[in-house]
Amino acid sequence: MAVASQAVTARLTQAAIFLVAVIHAGDEAVDAVRALCSDMAGLTRGIGFRFPERHLSCVTGIGSEAWSRLYPGPRPAGLHRFRELRGERHAPSTPGDLLFHIRATHMDLCFELATQVMERIGAHVTTVDEVHGFKYFDERDLLGFVDGTENPVGAEAVAATTIGDEDAAFAGGSYVIVQKYLHDLRAWNALPVERQETIVGRRKLSDVELPASAKASYAHTVLTTIDEEGEELKILRDNMPFGDIGKGEFGTYFIGYARHPSRIERMLVNMFVGNPPGNYDRLLDVSTAVTGSLFFVPSAALLESAATRAP
Ligand code: HEM
Repeated sequence: MAVASQAVTARLTQAAIFLVAVIHAGDEAVDAVRALCSDMAGLTRGIGFRFPERHLSCVTGIGSEAWSRLYPGPRPAGLHRFRELRGERHAPSTPGDLLFHIRATHMDLCFELATQVMERIGAHVTTVDEVHGFKYFDERDLLGFVDGTENPVGAEAVAATTIGDEDAAFAGGSYVIVQKYLHDLRAWNALPVERQETIVGRRKLSDVELPASAKASYAHTVLTTIDEEGEELKILRDNMPFGDIGKGEFGTYFIGYARHPSRIERMLVNMFVGNPPGNYDRLLDVSTAVTGSLFFVPSAALLESAATRAP
């Protein structure tokens, strides 16, 4: 029987909070986080049940070092720290023991759940990043392009993101990589729209894909299309714009789920180092990655069993 996953393939929603936290030293902190993990599904139900049409969901991810503390014993095969990339552009690796990816159609529910989470573990963790994301017009990022079109849906999304027999002890789990990008919108908006379309590989207004013959080898959508023995390897993204107008901060919070992190890592190498090396993603001329973390997403049952994991 298939093992139930967390809400990885939840419907794309209008609002999201991304919380990344580091767990303090000591057993007390570990116990508090274990107790929260076991209660996460109930906590989410407690807030979301009264508003089913608002689709509140939360995915809890666990970083490599935190895994050893929370779940002593076997490790998911692909779990490691996010690997920094230094190529044509820089992708830093930044700390993160826990990721809470909270989604809903309305920010109030996201805010309430994030508050409840921190009420439970706030004394035992340091929040190293918190981003409140929103949907911008018709699913566009702040660069003005529709973002998410080629995402897999339905059974294809489940197949792209869910670990199966290849790591049977962790079946139903996923991996997730997050990166916070800041855009130089002045520089981007100074480019002619045709140039922007070449960089992305799609038309800006209509979102129509450029014909293969007109696509640059460095287009974002070319560098992030990868295959294995002729079969395309998909990931599931739920990027969100965010910003702070007073500070002149405009960004995209990238979040990608996959059944193995190597899929996302190959795309990142293509983007930051280039394919072939040097042929890098020109989105990175106007986008700077300021964070980068990798997490394992246990199945719903494995997350819930956290409280019983003390050695
Ligand atoms: C600055 C951050 C980013 C922005 C603004 C951005 C924006 C976009 C846009 C506008 C598209 C075209 C529409 C679509 O299919 O979604 C796209 C496609 C895609 N992006 Fe990104 N993206 C970013 C980062 C990343 C990263 C870091 C990865 C993976 C490591 C990634 C993977 C993909 C994939 C797999 C596609 C679909 C390619 C296809 O099948 O045509 N993106 N992105």
